[in-house]
Amino acid sequence: MDLFEYQARDLFAKHDVPVLAGEVIDTPEAAREITERLGGKSVVKAQVKVGGRGKAGGVKLAASADEAVARATDILGMDIKGHTVHKVMIAETAPEIVEEYYVSFLLDRANRTFLSIASVEGGMEIEEVAATRPEAVAKTPIDAIDGVDEAKAREIVEAAKFPAEVADKVVNVLVKLWDTFIKSDALLVEVNPLAKVASGEVLALDGKVSLDDNAEFRHDWDELHDKAAANPLEAAAKEKNLNYVKLDGEVGIIGNGAGLVMSTLDVVAYAGEKHGNVKPANFLDIGGGASAQVMANGLEIILGDPDVKSVFVNVFGGITACDEVANGIVQALKLLEDRGEKVEKPLVVRLDGNNAELGRKILTDANHPLVQRVDTMDGAADKAAELAHAAK
Ligand SMILES: Nc1ncnc2c1ncn2[C@@H]1O[C@H](COP(=O)(O)OP(=O)(O)O)[C@@H](O)[C@H]1O
Ligand SMILES: [Mg+2]
Repeated sequence: MDLFEYQARDLFAKHDVPVLAGEVIDTPEAAREITERLGGKSVVKAQVKVGGRGKAGGVKLAASADEAVARATDILGMDIKGHTVHKVMIAETAPEIVEEYYVSFLLDRANRTFLSIASVEGGMEIEEVAATRPEAVAKTPIDAIDGVDEAKAREIVEAAKFPAEVADKVVNVLVKLWDTFIKSDALLVEVNPLAKVASGEVLALDGKVSLDDNAEFRHDWDELHDKAAANPLEAAAKEKNLNYVKLDGEVGIIGNGAGLVMSTLDVVAYAGEKHGNVKPANFLDIGGGASAQVMANGLEIILGDPDVKSVFVNVFGGITACDEVANGIVQALKLLEDRGEKVEKPLVVRLDGNNAELGRKILTDANHPLVQRVDTMDGAADKAAELAHAAK
């Protein structure tokens, strides 16, 4: 999960990374009172999860409360690289900025370690610096066990050639930033710019944080979720603990096991080429031991997707045998009908593996008017694509 700048700012503040005051608002008039409290001037900053806001006109200085309201009026509703601005942060104005640096910690998957990236040429052009003058960007691997203590931070500061007069301050920021990174289970913490101001202090003026969703169970991240941006089907699936991703096609997919579902997406996309280019409408893995309840929840999400024209249930019986899954499908359809949901979209079911024969017999006996059995994966994909095309 990526955070907004104001959320990153709050997280930094909690871990003693030096930041300036800032409050987030969604109406222009609210900028007045905050700016007055900040001493009559502020910086109005668009809160969108995309870089380069400054260059796009999404970061503006305001020399008075009136001006802050005017700038907030300009920026709210603006489009920055396809992201609509719904919120702005009213930030304290940094005292005269002398230099802008870049520092970050991230997970370096390729090298199976953590990495520090630092440069004394930070600010709005850092991507260009990295591309044209890679020697100005210091990359230092970080051992996952040892982490970043003062000595390691000093090594980073030396590698990036930070000026001597800010070295101690940057070391302090790096140690605090590493603490933020580890304690928050982040995949990335980035400060750009880390600004040296006239007083000699260094301040994190912009923050980018990406948290590891796999660690959510041990944190309280409810408030960090951007509910406005979430896809409603994905949000509903998440509530039911389903592993669901919305895609842009017409064939609803349910399978057990992530690998099987992934390959189902491929065969459906391939089969769709012959049937009006229909494509998979989603990824949904209901897992190994899927009960009728889970199958019903999954079917409910998929049938509730207006883009779905047909559904392909692709199950390979393993520990959960096909007869249990078949019973699950039959019960799930009944459960949905009992819930008052009208099931009107055709379902193509392919069962194979443990107890396949028994499972197929259960479906045949149930004789549900919308369910068709096709016993090969390619055949079932073809049928589901054909039905989706016909219903388009
Ligand atoms: N609180 C602030 N006070 C003064 N200048 C700021 C402040 N925040 C940002 N800036 C200036 O605006 C530039 C762009 O802002 P930043 O938050 O880095 O957005 P982005 O990286 O999306 O362009 C910064 O490099 C800095 O020079
Ligand atoms: Mg920035």
